[in-house]
Amino acid sequence: VSVVAKLNLDRIIGKHQDFPKPGILFRDINPVFRNPDALKFIASEFSRKFSKTRYDATAGIESRGFVVATAVGMKAGKGVIMIRKVGKLPGPTIKKSYDIEYGNATMELQTDAVKKGQRVLIVDDLIATGGTAVAAAQLVEELGGKVAGFGFVIELAGLKGADRLRQMGYRVESLVV
Ligand code: PRP
Ligand code: ADE
Repeated sequence: VSVVAKLNLDRIIGKHQDFPKPGILFRDINPVFRNPDALKFIASEFSRKFSKTRYDATAGIESRGFVVATAVGMKAGKGVIMIRKVGKLPGPTIKKSYDIEYGNATMELQTDAVKKGQRVLIVDDLIATGGTAVAAAQLVEELGGKVAGFGFVIELAGLKGADRLRQMGYRVESLVV
C-alpha cells in the first residue's frame, strides 16, 4: 500500500522550472496539501517511520513546514513548535541566519518554546541544501533541546542536504527522494 501511495505523492508534487530564480526546478507541495488523502498519508507515514523514536514535540519550519508539523503533530498527539522567519515572534527569542538553495534568511525561535532535554522532531516540506534544517537544529539545541530526528516530504538528494544531516549524526526520514 505504502509504495503505491508514495508513487502517487511524487506524481502530485508540482514542478516549475526557473522559479523563483533561473536554474531552479521548484517542487510545489501545494497540490499535496490540497489533497486530503495525501495529507493523511504524510501524517501516517511519519508516525510509522518514527514509531520507535521518543519525542515530545514536533517543530515546523515556516511556512510550508507548518502544515507538515500540524498533520504529523496531531496524528502523534504532540504539540507544534513554530520556527519562524525573523520578526514574527513576540517575547524573548534567539535567531540564526542561513543559506538556502535560492537565497538566505534568518530564523527565530521563542526561548520558552523548547525546554532543556526536550526531544523535538523537526519537519519540513523539503530539504535541498540543508541550510534551513541545520539552522533549525542549532536553534533547538541552543535552548538545550535534543533533535529527535528530521522528517521531510521531499528530499532533493542531488543537493546533499539530507546526507549532510546524516553525517552530523541525525536521523533523517524522507517520503519522496
Ligand atoms: C524552502 C523549504 C525549506 C527550505 C529548503 O523554504 O520549505 O524550508 O527552502 O532549502 P534548503 O535545504 O536549501 O535550506 P523557503 O525558505 O523557500 O520558505 P517558505 O516555506 O516560506 O516558502
Ligand atoms: N526550497 C529549496 N529548494 C527548493 C526547490 N527546488 N523547490 C521547492 N522548494 C525549495
